[in-house]
Amino acid sequence: MLDLLIKNATLPDGRTGMSVAVQAGRIVEVTPGLSAPAAETVDAAGQLLTPPFCDPHFHMDATLSYGLPRVNESGTLLEGIAVWGELKPTLTADAMIERALTYCDWAVAKGLLAIRSHVDTSDPSLLPVQAMLEVKRRVTPYIDLQLVAFPQDGVLRAPGGVDNLQRALDLGVDIVGGIPHFERTMGEGAASVKLLCEIAADRGKLVDMHCDETDDPMSRHIETLAFEAQRLGLQGRVNGSHCTSMHSMDNYYVSKLLPLIAESGVSVVANPLINITLQGRHDTYPRRRGMTRVPELMAAGVTVAFGHDCVMDPWYGMGSGDMLEVAHMGLHVAQMTSQQGIRACFDAVTASAAKVMHLQGYGFKPGCDASFVLLQARDPVEAIRLRANRLKVWKKGKLLAQAPAMATQLSLGGRPPRVDFGAPA
Ligand code: FE2
Repeated sequence: MLDLLIKNATLPDGRTGMSVAVQAGRIVEVTPGLSAPAAETVDAAGQLLTPPFCDPHFHMDATLSYGLPRVNESGTLLEGIAVWGELKPTLTADAMIERALTYCDWAVAKGLLAIRSHVDTSDPSLLPVQAMLEVKRRVTPYIDLQLVAFPQDGVLRAPGGVDNLQRALDLGVDIVGGIPHFERTMGEGAASVKLLCEIAADRGKLVDMHCDETDDPMSRHIETLAFEAQRLGLQGRVNGSHCTSMHSMDNYYVSKLLPLIAESGVSVVANPLINITLQGRHDTYPRRRGMTRVPELMAAGVTVAFGHDCVMDPWYGMGSGDMLEVAHMGLHVAQMTSQQGIRACFDAVTASAAKVMHLQGYGFKPGCDASFVLLQARDPVEAIRLRANRLKVWKKGKLLAQAPAMATQLSLGGRPPRVDFGAPA
């Protein structure tokens, strides 16, 4: 007997009327119209069943600290870093852990079951590292939490930056991070990329670097990152996050750069909500949008995913862990309004994000983890349009969250008694 049978589901690839059979936490069969005895049978009623949402770029150590000790009034990246710097001396592990656990509760409710979080390694106490390792331990049953050693103040710029980062890796942080555009000079930035990639190669770690999070078209650390990935044999193991300077780069230079990124196997994570908020702040009008060249990178064969980056922290006061909100903003900023473009934006917060994160057992093939989300939407396009309600969230066959279907009662006389915002059949 099966543990769980979900019937009449629509899958992200467009297949309808599908049954998904689950045994011992794994998918054993995906086929149309299966009937089999099961401990629990769920009728998906034609709604979209998707593998979980994945956030490939987040800051769990800073989340839900909005307003502490003050609000970022200018809204710039640099004031955000300054506010975070003011908050850091007052941080306690317990408060950080509690805020992060609360965010993870939100994430589960939104069907977000894999998160890659950067963790600030700048302070020699490594307090955020210790706190996030504890969070990772506690949420392991329900969230795949990956940690990136992130030298927020610059690995070369801040005293002890290299040593602190190495100690974070020794403690069990998974991935090597960096922030080359925040080092003192372009030369130091490039040197930091080389050094950090060598550390990752020596330790057999993945790399995920904040790269060129600036409107300066001459910030070209992505070029060095791609070069080092290739030189060190790290193809497929390196990610460039943000890459917002690419928005402002010269088109001829980009035409050379895109194939170099593709050739190096470097993936790119854009953070639409944050890029549209933080970039262009030094402009008058026209004001740049600041997000990297998402459709062009995709067309060049680069894996591109979307991250949330921030929720209620010194850089961004909005957010709730909803990766459909991220995809919604991404498709607007990138003007990816074709059906194919919208579906690519859905992939950017599901399958493509899982690929960036090297997640194992992700997807709808037999043998994959029985982790999925049932949405109150008929397809990925409607899911993004409505930032659809999460009806049920399962992790390895276990139901973690559920919510009633949403609808609004109407009393208009002669009109339907309720609306759920589904498009007319
Ligand atoms: Fe970030």
